[in-house]
Amino acid sequence: MKLQVLLGAVCVIFMFSMIPTSSSHNIACYFASWAVYRNLSGTFDVYNIDPHLCTHVYFAFVELNEDGSLLILDKWESNDENDGGHYHGFRNLANLRKVNPELKTLVSLGGWNAGSKNFSGVSADPVKRQRLVQDSMRLIEKYNFDGFDIDWEYPTLRDKAHPEDKENFVELLKDYSAALKPRGLLLSAALAGAVDKIDSAYFVEQVSEYLDLLNIMTYDYHGAFDDFVGHVAPLHASPLDYQHGRNSTYVAATAVDYWIYKNADPSKINMGLATYGRTFTLEDKTNNQLYAPVLGPGPAGPYSGLKGSLGYNEICEHYSGSDSVYYWDDDQKVPHRVVDDTWIGFEDERSIGYKVDFAVSKGLGGLMIWSLDTDDFLGTCGRRYPLVNAVKDRLKYWESQEKK
Ligand SMILES: *[C@@H]1O[C@H](CO)[C@@H](O)[C@H](O)[C@H]1NC(C)=O
Ligand SMILES: *[C@@H]1O[C@H](CO)[C@@H](O)[C@H](O)[C@H]1NC(C)=O
Ligand SMILES: *[C@@H]1O[C@H](CO)[C@@H](O)[C@H](O)[C@H]1NC(C)=O
Repeated sequence: MKLQVLLGAVCVIFMFSMIPTSSSHNIACYFASWAVYRNLSGTFDVYNIDPHLCTHVYFAFVELNEDGSLLILDKWESNDENDGGHYHGFRNLANLRKVNPELKTLVSLGGWNAGSKNFSGVSADPVKRQRLVQDSMRLIEKYNFDGFDIDWEYPTLRDKAHPEDKENFVELLKDYSAALKPRGLLLSAALAGAVDKIDSAYFVEQVSEYLDLLNIMTYDYHGAFDDFVGHVAPLHASPLDYQHGRNSTYVAATAVDYWIYKNADPSKINMGLATYGRTFTLEDKTNNQLYAPVLGPGPAGPYSGLKGSLGYNEICEHYSGSDSVYYWDDDQKVPHRVVDDTWIGFEDERSIGYKVDFAVSKGLGGLMIWSLDTDDFLGTCGRRYPLVNAVKDRLKYWESQEKK
């Protein structure tokens, strides 16, 4: 009995010493606002966000019109009425800070589906840029958000190449910065994670100067757009890459190193992690190694409903049974699963451990997560938010090492 009490006391002391007074690394988490329309236990609302999990939470997305005014496609999220005791998107996000005042809340503009056309036109015109900045400021002030994020995918690279985008992106950041900084608000951006895109789209030094947070999208290196098996987010290259006439261009470590080599401030960089997998249908299910030929994307998941990709929640619930074989690629430091003729490259606790170690070794600001809504946020397979918690645990480990 005495021993139990003593052990209990030791545990309590141990637990408290583990709680960092303030986390020194960023865990910057996006969530997709459309996840609220997913079916069954895939439905994700702001209510599902643990306000103590991330350091920054990003609402994705709002869009922009040709004239520079903000475009809020989904009226649900901007509806500010109390709907039978429930609030909607923006108001709920703002309310998270009542639970955790340390949490930073941001709104993200753009995303892949927004394309590049309206960004291109607006950023080229000082009057339209101002309209966009002022509209954004009104949204931020209304909900007391902590900053704004720009996810232009990508300057110079979509909807007809506009070489002037590269310069105009800097102008856009400059205008946002002038409005946000004096109020102590954050300017953040989601940025490309491939060398060729970085060279085309960014004046890295200036981009780094104006931004407080550089969220590098170090994923989507392979997917249904390839005609062979490849991993969504390898940390390092595989010898098979070179055997197939490729190199280490499409891997996460290369992208981060390249941003730093181009003089981005490492302490502002958050390295991206995917809480989803990219899937293929194998041509021959006995050949499931990297570069194996494929017939096309894998089947759509029950929640996310898109061929070629599955949320981690879908993978752990529906593709991890006894018919599923787990493989670990020790060169790329990532896992994949094969279920019959479906090949799934994804991120798990183990691969995340390696990525966090890499981020810490490079002196990065932290990690970015796309996205909260496809982690196992309900804890259906075990612990809630296993992937984001893996980030948090590994960072805590490094932070406790630093104190020694
Ligand atoms: C671009 O702006 C126009 C209105 O000016 C809007 O109708 C359109 O939806 C916008 N495009 C995107 C992809 O948001
Ligand atoms: C690496 O491969 C990419 C295409 O996958 C190519 O564009 C690039 O030139 C290659 N780089 C080197 C150094 O060979
Ligand atoms: C959600 O359910 C509806 C109605 O059953 C169905 O039409 C829709 O395709 C489902 N969505 C997904 C992503 O499976």
